[in-house]
Amino acid sequence: MSTTNFPAGSSSASTGISIEKVTMPKLSEMKRQGKLISSLTAYDYATGRLVDEAGIDMILVGDSLAMVVLGQENTLAVTVDEMLHHTRAVSRAVHRALVVADMPFGSYGTVAVGVANAIRFMKEAGAEAVKIEGPRVELARALTEAEIPVVAHLGLTPQSVHRMGGFRVQGRSVDTAMHLKVAALALAAAGAGAVVLEGIPRETAAAITAELPVPTIGIGAGPDCDGQILVLHDLVGLSFTPAPKFVRSYADAGTLIRSAVEHYREDVEHRSFPSDEESYHLPEAARKALGARENAGTLRKV
Ligand code: KIV
Repeated sequence: MSTTNFPAGSSSASTGISIEKVTMPKLSEMKRQGKLISSLTAYDYATGRLVDEAGIDMILVGDSLAMVVLGQENTLAVTVDEMLHHTRAVSRAVHRALVVADMPFGSYGTVAVGVANAIRFMKEAGAEAVKIEGPRVELARALTEAEIPVVAHLGLTPQSVHRMGGFRVQGRSVDTAMHLKVAALALAAAGAGAVVLEGIPRETAAAITAELPVPTIGIGAGPDCDGQILVLHDLVGLSFTPAPKFVRSYADAGTLIRSAVEHYREDVEHRSFPSDEESYHLPEAARKALGARENAGTLRKV
């Protein structure tokens, strides 16, 4: 296919409205221009649409879905097939944001396996980039060579929960902070287009952000990163575990949904739902004919 007349901006085929698609290079451009990057997770068509329509730049189909959508204790059990399923739904919904698929635990143990699985996310689920946890420099290089944009993830990496002995803040000493900075620089040099920094001191994140040529996206890493990400369910009150200190609550969708559902249940129990207006009706003539037939049947029985 010729790419010479590919439109520079992009437009949604379904709406015809012109939108500027967010791409991995665009995120770096935003860093250069000092524009902060907004990012959130989404896990299905509805959340994908809402988050995209709200103008969020990068949408991560996070493996946090294991916990907030599937009710698991940590992120380890979610499979490639489950992540593909959710990524597909989000990709269908999103027109503007960059869609990043999280590679689940065990799906990138070797470079070859990692590249093969990442290709599945691009080919089968419409992902525009993949995220990998830890300082996997060789994998980042191989993915980049395979034309797969990479988001790296350092600091408190939830897939290492057992090695870390729990979800603990990382990079608190000068040595560990330096290790994180060296890893971030190596990942960027290998081709990673952005680095998520999770659960590290503000000062460590600021030092990394200042030296990294690509954007840092913080979660529990203070305000000096080039962008921020949160888990959608934490932001809107749909998580059932106590929120970490870095989460700001913007809505209580849990209370809203529970109260709507209770109201519905009461209406059903009192026969006030559905109303006559919420019912379909026969045409007048058919209604009369049916009434006549019913009367005749009733008369025959007496
Ligand atoms: O899975 C996830 O949601 C993440 C975050 C960075 C929020 O990895």
